[in-house]
Amino acid sequence: MITKAVEFIKSKITETYEIGIILGSGLGTLGEKIENPSFVDYADIPHFPVSTAPGHVGRFVFGTLNGKKVMCMQGRIHLYEGYPVENVVMPIRVMKMMGVKKLIVTNAAGGINESFSVGDIMVITDHINFTGRNCLMGKNDDRFGVRFPDMSFGYSPELSNIAFKCAEKLGMKLQKGVYIGCTGPSYETPAEIRAFRVLGADAVGMSTVQEVIAANHCGIDVLGFSLVSNKAAGLSGERLTEEEVLTIGRQKSEEMQSLITEIVGEF
Ligand code: HPA
Repeated sequence: MITKAVEFIKSKITETYEIGIILGSGLGTLGEKIENPSFVDYADIPHFPVSTAPGHVGRFVFGTLNGKKVMCMQGRIHLYEGYPVENVVMPIRVMKMMGVKKLIVTNAAGGINESFSVGDIMVITDHINFTGRNCLMGKNDDRFGVRFPDMSFGYSPELSNIAFKCAEKLGMKLQKGVYIGCTGPSYETPAEIRAFRVLGADAVGMSTVQEVIAANHCGIDVLGFSLVSNKAAGLSGERLTEEEVLTIGRQKSEEMQSLITEIVGEF
């Protein structure tokens, strides 16, 4: 299925792309900054899952950003959409076959760390996979990677360093911390958030962890960002809404765009 999907994309896109970018909730507008773009809708790709989440367009954008060729997902696939975990990570394997060596993943997340404010951008230093699934369960496909891939450097320290240097250059402050990935779609309970803090998590969301496992499996280096779109459940006294997540995404997307553009130039 991956081969069929890649064959289809290659019938439209002839070049290879070394940098992949996944745009999370409300952050899809970065896709509009890509120069000389070519678009491939997920819905047109054989066997490819279609993202149904709000704020996710559902297409690949191929083009140039800051002089580098990038392959960008405007919209990702989540476990809560009901797709099997293999589908959630299929885009990563497609990226691998299109030549991707470095991947920037972004998401919107609830801030657990009390020192974070809404609107902060966190460099993901590590994750806790709390989804109860692992995309590598089942027969291993040796063409992509080994049976037991190491996750000690799941989020590349070298790429994080580049992110901090670029942020400094742009006068931006970045947080750093651990992302805990849940399936959703319900937001967490306040009790879960208290438990996650004890576990060492700084931000919580419903994506990213499976993609990062798949990327590590097939030898793609990862740089991850969480945009803190809200305080996690129970920390603000307010109810959580999808609107605030998307609104903060839109408000911060310019800043995220400049940061990612700068970083891509250094890759
Ligand atoms: N929890 C889970 N996912 C999220 C949140 C949250 O608080 N905010 C944005 N995505």
